Amino acid sequence: MIFRTRKWVKPEDLNANGTLFGGSLLRWIDEESAIYAIIQMGNPRSVTKLISEINFVSSARQGDMIEMGLRAVKFGRTSLTMRAKVRNIITGEVILTIDKIVFVSLDENGNPQPHGYTDITFKRDRIPTSMSVSKPRT
Ligand SMILES: CC(C)(COP(=O)(O)OP(=O)(O)OC[C@H]1O[C@@H](n2cnc3c(N)ncnc32)[C@H](O)[C@@H]1OP(=O)(O)O)[C@@H](O)C(=O)NCCC(=O)NCCS
Repeated sequence: MIFRTRKWVKPEDLNANGTLFGGSLLRWIDEESAIYAIIQMGNPRSVTKLISEINFVSSARQGDMIEMGLRAVKFGRTSLTMRAKVRNIITGEVILTIDKIVFVSLDENGNPQPHGYTDITFKRDRIPTSMSVSKPRT
């Protein structure tokens, strides 16, 4: 698993208990997964289909530095399944794990579109030439 994005836990990210709000963390994970899925499936029209059980293993506090890791575990025909882990950069303590995050590659009408890939790329060779997404026809 490669840990790419790092975050610094700030006051606006906290819950009433003074620890990192789960909703903030999920927002960050969903965005990280979207970028990973776009790079792996080569399609800017990649959407979240499923997030499996989320295990908030331990909490993070204001000032903590955390890092998010993702790994592709299955390339389907139109989907990509990933595994996620978040940990404290300094202590290495695990903050969150998610076994399955599924993204689906879509065509311009919003229907599942085969991505044609079967394994992970560690390069930037699949990045779409245009990242703009045109609106589906109505
Ligand atoms: C993404 C969407 C087009 C898929 O539609 P669908 O009818 O499920 O399409 P399909 O049945 O053809 O499945 C597409 C892929 O998703 C996978 N999939 C569907 N349901 C799944 C589930 N519950 N768990 C895991 N994978 C699932 C299928 O296995 C298939 O993958 P494959 O082609 O690699 O085998 C549709 O569900 C949708 O538009 N959802 C909303 C997406 C969205 O707005 N996300 C943002 C979240 S707020």
